[in-house]
Amino acid sequence: MKVDGKHFRSIWREKDGFSVGAIDQCRLPHEFVVARLTNGAEAADAIRSMLVRGAPLIGATAAYGMALAMKDDRSNQGIDRAYQMLIATRPTAINLKWALEEMRRVLRKLAPSARLDAAFARADDIADEDVAINQGMASNGLPLIEAIAARKPGGVVNVLTHCNAGWLATVDWGTATAPIYLAHDRGIKIHVWVDETRPRNQGASLTAWELGHHGVPHTVIPDNTGGHLMQHGMVDLAIVGTDRVAANGDVCNKIGTYLKALAAHDNGVPFYVALPSPTIDFTVADGVMQIPIEQRSGDEVSHVTGRTANGRIETVQIVPDGSPVANYAFDVTPARLVSGLITERGVLKPDRASLAAAFPERIATAAE
Ligand code: MRU
Repeated sequence: MKVDGKHFRSIWREKDGFSVGAIDQCRLPHEFVVARLTNGAEAADAIRSMLVRGAPLIGATAAYGMALAMKDDRSNQGIDRAYQMLIATRPTAINLKWALEEMRRVLRKLAPSARLDAAFARADDIADEDVAINQGMASNGLPLIEAIAARKPGGVVNVLTHCNAGWLATVDWGTATAPIYLAHDRGIKIHVWVDETRPRNQGASLTAWELGHHGVPHTVIPDNTGGHLMQHGMVDLAIVGTDRVAANGDVCNKIGTYLKALAAHDNGVPFYVALPSPTIDFTVADGVMQIPIEQRSGDEVSHVTGRTANGRIETVQIVPDGSPVANYAFDVTPARLVSGLITERGVLKPDRASLAAAFPERIATAAE
C-alpha cells in the first residue's frame, strides 16, 4: 500500500541483505519512522514493544528474527535459543509459533554454513506468501461487498471493523481490509466505521491512518458506538481480523470484538472474519476455553498518548492515582456468532469440517 505516493510494505529486508526495515507502529499516526533491526534480540523487542504488531506481521517479524539470529550463532543450540527468545514475546497470535516452527524445520535440515542465507530466503518467502494470501482474501471477500452494493444502487456500503487488521498488521493489503481496498479500487462506494479500539487505539491510530493514505472514506468511532449504528441500519457488514482461530471456528481477536459480534447478531448484521491459513490452530479444540489471552501492562489503560496542540507527543494519566486497572488484550467470539471465515481458499463456515476440508495440510502439521 502507498504512503504519500510511495509503495511500502510493513517489513522488508534492507539492501545490505542482512538487516531488516520495519515501520515503527508505536510512532504512528503522528510520525512516520522506519526502524532497522540488526539482530534477533532487536526483532524480539520489536514484537514485545509492539513496534510491529498484528498476527501475520508478528509471524513475518519472527521469521526475520530467526534469520537475524543466525548472523551470531548458526548452531542447533543457536536455532533453539532464537526460537525460545522469540516465542516468549507475545502469547496469543498463533502466527508467531507457525512462523518459528517453519523456520526451525527449514534450518535444522541444513548444515550450519548454509543456514544464514537459507533463513533470510525463507523469511522473504514467508513475507511474500503473506501478501499473496491477503490478495486471495481480497478476491474471496469482494463478492460479499459487491452483493451489498448491488442491493443499494448508488448507495454506500458501510463496513465496520475493529482494531487494525489492515496492511500494517500484515506485510501488505491486510486481512479484514483486503476486500475493502479491492472494492474501493474497483470503484465501489465504500465507507468504513473504524472502532478506536481502546486501550492502545490501533483503530484510531493505525487503521484510520492507512485508510486515509489509500483514500478510503472512513469515520473513527468510540468503541461503544457500533451497537447504536447497527440498530439504525448504518452498518451493512462487519469484517474483523483474528489472532487465532480454533478448530471449532471460535475466533480470538482484539478485546471488544466479541461485543461487536453480539451486537451484529442481535441486529442481523453479517459478521465476517478474515484470516490467513497460518492463523488456524487445529491443536485448540475449543477457542473460548483454551486460547491463551495476553494480559498487558495496566499503563495502556491508565494512560493515553497523543499530540498536543503545539505538536508535542505526550502521555497523560486518565484514572485516579491508585485505581487498579485490568488489561485483557484479546477476547474470543464463539463460532455461532460468525457468519463466515474469509480465507485465501474461499469463504468458509466457521466449523471444524469446513476448516479441515479447506486446509487438510494444517491438520497434518498440528498432529506432529
Ligand atoms: O495487539 P495487536 O495490535 O497485535 O492485535 C491485533 C489484532 O487483534 C488484529 O485484529 C489481528 O492481529 C488480526 S491482524 C491481521
